[in-house]
Amino acid sequence: MSKEIQGFSAPIYVTKPVFPTIEEVTAKLEDIWRAEWLTNNGPQHAMLEKELTEYLKVPYLNLFNNGTIALMVACQSLRLMGDVITTPFTFAATPHVLSWNNIRPIFCDIDPVTMNIDAEKIESMITPQTTAILAVHVFGTPCDVEKIQKVADKYGLRVVYDAAHAFGVEIDGKGIGNFGDISMLSFHATKLYHTVEGGALVHKDANLKERIDLLKNFGIKNEEEVVMPGINGKMNEVQAAIGRIMLGYVEKEREKRIALGKIYDEELGGVPGITLMPKVEEHVRLNHQYYVIRIDEEKFGRSRDYVYDHFKEYNVFARKYFHPLCSEYTCYRQLSSAAPGQLPVAEKVGREVLSMPMYGKLEAEDVRKICGILKSFQA
Ligand SMILES: Cc1ncc(COP(=O)(O)O)c(C=O)c1O
Repeated sequence: MSKEIQGFSAPIYVTKPVFPTIEEVTAKLEDIWRAEWLTNNGPQHAMLEKELTEYLKVPYLNLFNNGTIALMVACQSLRLMGDVITTPFTFAATPHVLSWNNIRPIFCDIDPVTMNIDAEKIESMITPQTTAILAVHVFGTPCDVEKIQKVADKYGLRVVYDAAHAFGVEIDGKGIGNFGDISMLSFHATKLYHTVEGGALVHKDANLKERIDLLKNFGIKNEEEVVMPGINGKMNEVQAAIGRIMLGYVEKEREKRIALGKIYDEELGGVPGITLMPKVEEHVRLNHQYYVIRIDEEKFGRSRDYVYDHFKEYNVFARKYFHPLCSEYTCYRQLSSAAPGQLPVAEKVGREVLSMPMYGKLEAEDVRKICGILKSFQA
């Protein structure tokens, strides 16, 4: 351990949830208690659905108890089956949702800059069994939505976006949920915007809105009719009330993260072997939820794993998102698309990537110190 730099006295984790004040929560709980309505389409749910539809600039939105169930329902609502082309560089939920729908995930390699599915490689993976593309806007960087749609249209495929990381992201002033057939958002506590646990599906189709509402409530149409095998995906009133409060926090939290991101850029830009968060064109509005770097062992002189391990000695707990790749999980590695060497870019990115501490309560000085520690590791 370097003698010059002292470690942090308390652990610095990769993120910290944004907490509303207890007074705001108490006031909203009192509203719920007065209404005597805890779940199943209550007033908080109705208001949050409306408020989020406007905030996210999307035509339709269905709230859920979490993003994973929302994505499962998205696949059901589009009646997906067979094979779906997806990315190995994502959270476990993405391919698991396909498996729970009896669909085989087909892993496609990723783009070396954006770390999203490589739109150029999708076409070569399409077979008669392919029914859809499930792409992920990894770390909130938008996928190449135009190219993906072009391939999908050519082959009559559906496009579903796992937009778990992309709350509030826009392209040309259009909400990210306007692309593809359906997008899923996660409102998990660790996200920029949260409802403790929660999620949503966003799309452009009034019929889908109705079908998804049925699917998330056991397929119950009315007291006499159950019309499809649905599930319990309902968001409750307490989640929705917290979500309404958190809408008042999201812009400020985003601004704080923009400022911290600039410090990471300044401190780490130009360090040999360190690649910063991918830059996007000006017409893209990012949410700055994450700050992710890549470490090239040869050029930096230390591996990502060295940095990850030695950070801990300074009380810094970065995370290896996303390592291992989904294609390396024991439940998927037997797939032919997951065979070693099939996904060379994803394999390299998976070895190099490191998610750095990023949350509004982090001080500018903390970020400078984290960068100083990282630079002190240079061999
Ligand atoms: C890319 C991605 N997809 C899906 C999910 C699952 O969302 P949830 O935790 O709301 O179920 C997450 C993480 O939470 C994620 O990072």
